[in-house]
Amino acid sequence: MRARSEDPVSSHQLLDRWGRSAADLRLSVTDRCNLRCSYCLPEDATTWIPRQDLLTPRELGRLTQIALSLGIRKVRLTGGEPLLRPDLAEIIRQINQAFSEANLPADIALTTNAIGLSSQLKSLIEAGLSRINISLDTLNPHRYYALAKRDRFPEVSAALNKLPDSGLSPIKLNSVILDQQSLEEIPDLVRFSLRRGFQWRAIEFMPIGPLGDSAASRPHARDILDRLREYFSLTPIETDPAAPARRWNVAANSDHPAGIIGVIASESAPFCATCDRTRLSADGKVYSCLFSLSFVDLLAPLRQGASNEELAKLWLDAQAAKPAGHTEIAVGRRTYSLSQIGG
Ligand code: GTP
Ligand code: 5AD
Ligand code: SF4
Repeated sequence: MRARSEDPVSSHQLLDRWGRSAADLRLSVTDRCNLRCSYCLPEDATTWIPRQDLLTPRELGRLTQIALSLGIRKVRLTGGEPLLRPDLAEIIRQINQAFSEANLPADIALTTNAIGLSSQLKSLIEAGLSRINISLDTLNPHRYYALAKRDRFPEVSAALNKLPDSGLSPIKLNSVILDQQSLEEIPDLVRFSLRRGFQWRAIEFMPIGPLGDSAASRPHARDILDRLREYFSLTPIETDPAAPARRWNVAANSDHPAGIIGVIASESAPFCATCDRTRLSADGKVYSCLFSLSFVDLLAPLRQGASNEELAKLWLDAQAAKPAGHTEIAVGRRTYSLSQIGG
């Protein structure tokens, strides 16, 4: 595999030393969240990015413009909880404008816990939102409270009922499989999703965040698949190698229509070798990998008047240093949680 500096196209693409190029930009727009899922954000979390350090919609638009010039073709807004940004529609408008100025079809997705989504959905779609993924680990309001430490299930439920008529496609429901209770709830989560036309995806627990050390003892993809096969008739779907989920068609029966489900096996079958992601934190730091131990700051140079070329050069250098994969980073050193670096 050639090093980035020897590659003739390297000045226009976010290449790393292992030959991967980034096409998928994950923009965290806030590190704050209205839930306290213990595996992501402990109750006593107190350090937040100061508001004046959050990238503004215009800054996010400009950085997207630079990212598109470097080969990015998909943008996903993550957090923390992105809906907590009162200017989220404006952020989407600015990103949409960057796509249209680059003459590229806009692919703007959102990963959200759906709290407050009902009332914002229309304006986000009008601003240019194309796709949405909902993070929801349970359909049981009591378990929801036990896991997320906040009694917000009714608001999530309202949004889930509204989504099928939104025109967004695909709509994905992501559930982290935490324990035996999660495994037991799989059939309900799948049927619920199929009936609404959502793609349900099981997420293997990753060794990141406050409970990262417990990953080895949590259910693996094979446990999830065993459970799925007990209840559903599955046929594998050929998948894009850069996509994190292995997917299956689920056959219809008298209880539910046909549909698609996926399993994201970040731990038992890491997809790092084909990873096409780059990340920007809410305060403008480039992280080349979810598990990166270092970052390159774009916020200070951006606010000090750096040119697009100078910012692009910083981003290229950050991405060049992307680790081969997360297994090369010792568990104890993974200090970030997904709320800080973007889920
Ligand atoms: P689409 O395929 O575009 O719909 O999105 P996605 O699956 O990339 O995005 P989503 O935000 O729904 O991510 C799903 C889950 O994958 C997250 O909840 C994380 O658990 C996991 N994940 C997200 N990004 C990464 C990553 O960069 N590396 C690894 N190993 N896992 C990730
Ligand atoms: N393992 C897997 N997924 C995680 N998320 C947060 N922490 C972890 C972890 N340790 C997920 C959330 C949400 C997304 C933003 O990241 O559940 O789906
Ligand atoms: Fe990509 Fe890093 Fe996630 Fe692996 S852990 S898939 S290299 S971002």
